[in-house]
Amino acid sequence: MSETETLNAYKAQLEAYLKNLPMAGAPDRLREAMRYSLLNGGKRLRGCLLLAACELGGGDAEAALPFAAALEMIHAYSLIHDDLPAMDNDTLRRGKPTNHVVFGEALAILAGDALLTHAVEIMAASNHPRAFPALGEIIRAAGVGGMLAGQTLDVTNEGAEPDIHLVEEIHRGKTAALLTAPLTAGLILAGAEGARVEAGRKYGFHLGMAFQIMDDLLDLEGDPALMGKTLGKDQAEGKLTWPACVGIEQAKRDAEKHIGQAVEALALFGEKAAFLQALALSTLHRVQ
Ligand code: IPE
Ligand code: IPE
Ligand code: MG
Ligand code: MG
Ligand code: MG
Repeated sequence: MSETETLNAYKAQLEAYLKNLPMAGAPDRLREAMRYSLLNGGKRLRGCLLLAACELGGGDAEAALPFAAALEMIHAYSLIHDDLPAMDNDTLRRGKPTNHVVFGEALAILAGDALLTHAVEIMAASNHPRAFPALGEIIRAAGVGGMLAGQTLDVTNEGAEPDIHLVEEIHRGKTAALLTAPLTAGLILAGAEGARVEAGRKYGFHLGMAFQIMDDLLDLEGDPALMGKTLGKDQAEGKLTWPACVGIEQAKRDAEKHIGQAVEALALFGEKAAFLQALALSTLHRVQ
């Protein structure tokens, strides 16, 4: 299978799983708001990374589906809250009105909370023998030292002087954490340990840093129709971004350097890492 075929196969498996989630007990309006943001497209990068990492470690991707789905749910929650008026105040996401525009702020906050808690519920209900350590990796990445740390530094430093070390901390938290967890959790589910899990962690970190540097660049130079969100807002809101610190050309070189390090990190897996290495390289040319 080509890289694209493999990616599409992971994506299709994940979409079907997400679509069929019963969300038992949810009032109709809450379920509607959750499904609106969970099933409205998205590249499914985090979920697909987890399935690929699990197979890289020799595990069964199908048994890892609840964890891949959980990551996409946590990611969707982070986007709903990120778009709220109190945070980035965005009205367009994945080419559609943001959750709070459609359902109102109260439901959007609840849908975010619900996606996060339901993600934990699904992982906890899995009878995978290594569910608990994998859940730990994912929740730690979403938590106070991970995504929430990055988001806090992002919103509390709007208008601050460009500072590359601070931006590195922001990007490490808000984006790299949730791109590292699929690697470590996927490998752990496969039964990998030690150097192999750490290699996945390194890959995820560098991929995540490059991914957010690219997001910053695409905010300046991307095609709004393809990106499906309002661009040019980082500058307007005084966000601390990578290109604001080092300029556009250096930011591109830094993203390439991180991807080089991500590719290198998986060398110990040999040929088996080719898909994840190609996926990392492709993010340098992403247009959405
Ligand atoms: C958007 O993530 C938020 C960032 C961390 C930059 P993605 O670009 O992966 O969003 P979707 O899921 O494909 O919409
Ligand atoms: C979002 O970063 C990171 C999270 C949602 C955790 P951004 O605020 O840069 O993402 P976009 O540009 O809104 O997608
Ligand atoms: Mg933000
Ligand atoms: Mg935002
Ligand atoms: Mg952005």
